[in-house]
Amino acid sequence: PEAITVQELANRMAEKGADLVKALFKMGSMATINTTIDQDTAELLVTEFGHNIKRVSDSDVEIGLEGEADNDTDLMPRPPVVTIMGHVDHGKTSLLDALRGTDVVSGEAGGITQHIGAYQVKVATGDIVTFLDTPGHEAFTEMRGRGANVTDIVVLVVAGDDGLKPQSIEAISHTKAAGVPMIVAINKSDKPGSKPQKVREELLQHEVVVEDMGGDVQDVEVSALKKTNLDKLLDAILLQAELLELKANPNRPGEGTVIEAKLDKGRGPVATVLVSRGTVRVGDIFVVGAEWGKVRALVDDRGVQVKEAGPSKPVEVLGLSGTPMAGDVFAVVENEARAREIAAYRASVLQRKRTTQAPANLETMFSALK
Ligand code: GTP
Ligand code: MG
Repeated sequence: PEAITVQELANRMAEKGADLVKALFKMGSMATINTTIDQDTAELLVTEFGHNIKRVSDSDVEIGLEGEADNDTDLMPRPPVVTIMGHVDHGKTSLLDALRGTDVVSGEAGGITQHIGAYQVKVATGDIVTFLDTPGHEAFTEMRGRGANVTDIVVLVVAGDDGLKPQSIEAISHTKAAGVPMIVAINKSDKPGSKPQKVREELLQHEVVVEDMGGDVQDVEVSALKKTNLDKLLDAILLQAELLELKANPNRPGEGTVIEAKLDKGRGPVATVLVSRGTVRVGDIFVVGAEWGKVRALVDDRGVQVKEAGPSKPVEVLGLSGTPMAGDVFAVVENEARAREIAAYRASVLQRKRTTQAPANLETMFSALK
């Protein structure tokens, strides 16, 4: 029961069978797409291709975002998830604050965002938009890259008086790589030195063509400080969201992605989860990364306890066995036994990965795994 053909595995990974055969060849194993491989080899291939490890046998722990597909008729509109990206100090957090009508910046150490915050904003029309703030510091490149994967739309913040900077350009390539549409917020337009036209020309050099220049990327001149044109920016986001026809099934066990996780002195391990589909409820049993738990409380972005959280909603989840990692998949499962089983399995896979140094061929790989 612990075996699978190369082709079947390729299908599950959404990779080409031939590419897996090549990878096996590099590992010193002659195989065709019809060759049956064992569990360990399958896991190595999965890791090799940068996918998350999932058990591929019958007693399978296949859960989470790659779980069963939904019927079209079960899908309901969901709010867009918008990630704010841009160079350090170009005003990402200020813009979010302005949109949210609160003030996070003044509470931050040195005014630099140290974590990914997640907030929801209710627009005058009643529409809801979920925003993710990403750190501007270079050391957080990886997290920012990750942000692009849970996001539907990227808002690139560029300070009009500073223009495109290395991290703006990096954000552009992350966004393109993720295939996510972009909206440009040209910020600090209140400053006398702001040159929005120059920003548009710089964008053009990086193949981001704004509407004024015949392209399809919306750009809005804003000032987070003076709170000007925020409504225009929200309109641009909602227009883009409408084109994407974002939907999810809220009526299934909740699934999502960890945006951040920490060990809180008073509350224990806390994970901020962005729900991707289904609904998470207080009392639900879940697995997240190699941890599991029973939802003791759900806290929304304003610090209010809620009973449940549906698609596109960011919530803090309390009641974890330990602290998961940002990017980990969260999924509600049917019972505690199952939760423990999956968490233990994942922990063992992690442990194995840590103790295994990239071996040269299949023989050494197997001995390293035993
Ligand atoms: P990191 O998180 O460190 O990457 O920075 P950030 O992009 O979140 O920038 P932040 O919002 O912290 O703003 C940086 C500085 O620019 C602060 O001093 C803000 O007051 C200032 N600032 C932000 N938006 C505006 C604006 O529209 N106009 C002016 N004049 N200043 C602004
Ligand atoms: Mg910030």
